Amino acid sequence: MSITIDAVSFAAGDAVIVNGVSLTVEKGKVLGLLGPNGSGKSSLLRLICRLRKVRSGVIRLGEEDIASLSRAALARRIAFVEQQSTTETQLTVRDVVRLGRTPHRGLLAPWGAEDDAAVEEALVSVGMQARAGQLWQTLSGGERQRVHIARSLAQAPSELLLDEPTNHLDIQHQLDILALISRLGITAIVALHDLNLAAMFCDSLAVLEKGAVVAAGAPEAVLTEDLIARVFGVRAHVQKSAVHGRHHIQYRMD
Ligand SMILES: Nc1ncnc2c1ncn2[C@@H]1O[C@H](COP(=O)(O)OP(=O)(O)OP(=O)(O)O)[C@@H](O)[C@H]1O
Ligand SMILES: [Mg+2]
Repeated sequence: MSITIDAVSFAAGDAVIVNGVSLTVEKGKVLGLLGPNGSGKSSLLRLICRLRKVRSGVIRLGEEDIASLSRAALARRIAFVEQQSTTETQLTVRDVVRLGRTPHRGLLAPWGAEDDAAVEEALVSVGMQARAGQLWQTLSGGERQRVHIARSLAQAPSELLLDEPTNHLDIQHQLDILALISRLGITAIVALHDLNLAAMFCDSLAVLEKGAVVAAGAPEAVLTEDLIARVFGVRAHVQKSAVHGRHHIQYRMD
């Protein structure tokens, strides 16, 4: 389903953290959420999955206002991979991924073949099937991140929110995970810091600064030298790559 964020604001006490954000992600597309540390990316993602309540504005999944959905209904359709997520320590990798199936099972519904298939498929898609029996606490940082992504995929969400999913990943796994997300066909919002990876894998980008959207649209329209200087305070040379036709950003220190 599409995700529509309409004039959404959020504040903690007097501090306005998300300030009148309006964004739309079309069904099956990936929106990259960019912005400096503290610009409100994680806060906006938490509002979309209702871990926080908006102060004003409306968020819709398809036609439905998230405020009108039950917790259970929301959990069945939206998956969120948090920036720093923890898991109970005595679980194996497969146990953690199985947790992703919880919203799909009623109180008395037995675990079924469909649940097993979703878990195995998710493990394979992040390349963790060989470690399915390993204890989660013994995994490396990047492996943990991949397992949390697998858990969100096992949930079979119609909307997927990922907060810096490439954190801790080596370059091959960064590319693999983003390529996977872009070919899943699930409507997704991905907070990222790497502008080149964002341009490579996202259908559109939105840049936040102090809780407000300062640029949104196609990657090549958003990631200009001027914007990178204004928002991130970094001089850059932006080139259209001859190889894949995408933008390539080179940072300058001179
Ligand atoms: N409950 C809160 N009370 C006070 N300030 C808060 C609260 N929640 C978030 N903030 C502040 O809101 C701002 C936005 O935080 P947020 O985590 O959304 O940023 P971010 O864009 O995800 O940053 P990063 O790139 O570092 O992950 C930060 O300055 C943070 O300190
Ligand atoms: Mg964050």
